Amino acid sequence: MQDIEWGSLPFGYFKTEYNVRCYNRFGEWGEVEVSSSEYINIHMAATCLHYGQEAFEGMKVFRGVDGKARVFRWEENAKRMQRSAEGILMAEVPSELFYEMIEKVVKMNEKFIPPYGTGSALYLRPLLLGTGPQVGVKPAEEYMFMVFVGPVGPYFKEGFQPVRMQIVRDYDRCAPLGTGHIKVGGNYAASLKPAARAKEEGFASVIFLEAKEKKYIDEAGPANFFGIKGNKYITPDSHSILPSITNMSLRTLAEDMGLEVEKRHVLVEELGEFEEAGACGTAAIISPIREIFDRETGETFTYGDGEAGPVTTKLYNKLRAIQYGEEPDPYGWTKIIIE
Ligand code: PLP
Ligand code: COI
Repeated sequence: MQDIEWGSLPFGYFKTEYNVRCYNRFGEWGEVEVSSSEYINIHMAATCLHYGQEAFEGMKVFRGVDGKARVFRWEENAKRMQRSAEGILMAEVPSELFYEMIEKVVKMNEKFIPPYGTGSALYLRPLLLGTGPQVGVKPAEEYMFMVFVGPVGPYFKEGFQPVRMQIVRDYDRCAPLGTGHIKVGGNYAASLKPAARAKEEGFASVIFLEAKEKKYIDEAGPANFFGIKGNKYITPDSHSILPSITNMSLRTLAEDMGLEVEKRHVLVEELGEFEEAGACGTAAIISPIREIFDRETGETFTYGDGEAGPVTTKLYNKLRAIQYGEEPDPYGWTKIIIE
């Protein structure tokens, strides 16, 4: 195995040794297969290739202070993948099968779990594909579920250093009653152009607005948005946002810290009233935001003095402490995969 610079890993693809796969044919899941190939052999008329019958998930396994490897809230990812499957008429992966496969693939790739203290984690990417052929626009009769893994660092290269984000109004990630609330590939295809432009213009990510009225904040690229105002943790409520498991966890931790939690529409104008702002997600962890630039109006909202704010920092430290087994896990969010 090559030497891995565990502490400076990007968030990207990393070849490991094994992945696991399982097929659903005519409604029945088959045997779990282990593969060491990075490729999948797929029918040219597979519905995932033509009609976007594809959903994925993202989870992390952390090597704890005690040497144990813990996966964070996998049941929530399993449930969200079931909702994604239901949303675009794919076969649902039962939670037991989901867990069996993540446990297997993590154990088989144990040497790729970054050591404690490096700030990196093993990223798990479950993927559900319509593999059966169709030419008419119809759901497939065969599905493949697979899980691959790889060690990663934080999504935004700045890590916990505050980033700049850009509000876009000339692109929508998804339609108001579309598929934004589930984790299907089409949502990400629609985000590629504005995200690439934002990068070119010097921003870490775009912030999408709710597409119908363009008045409310939806989400921050591949992460949910939150703002801190006084004693409140405020995060947008919208049908077109992916319900983030990280955000759900932060809402609980914020309440535990005595903050009031509000999940509601957040007007763009309200950005000027927040003392702190952040983006959160499995890949992003928490990325503090130091500036939000509205590309159309030219308005800029700024937060803090270049460092993450105190509430954001406290939330980040608490979440990380639970994930790395440094502090008790009162809600049972972590499951030990390797003792
Ligand atoms: N929003 C989008 C669009 C995402 O892709 C993700 C990542 O999964 C999130 C938010 C964060 O969700 P989670 O915290 O469950 O990873
Ligand atoms: C995650 O946070 O797990 C994601 O999937 C975000 C992105 C890489 C799509």
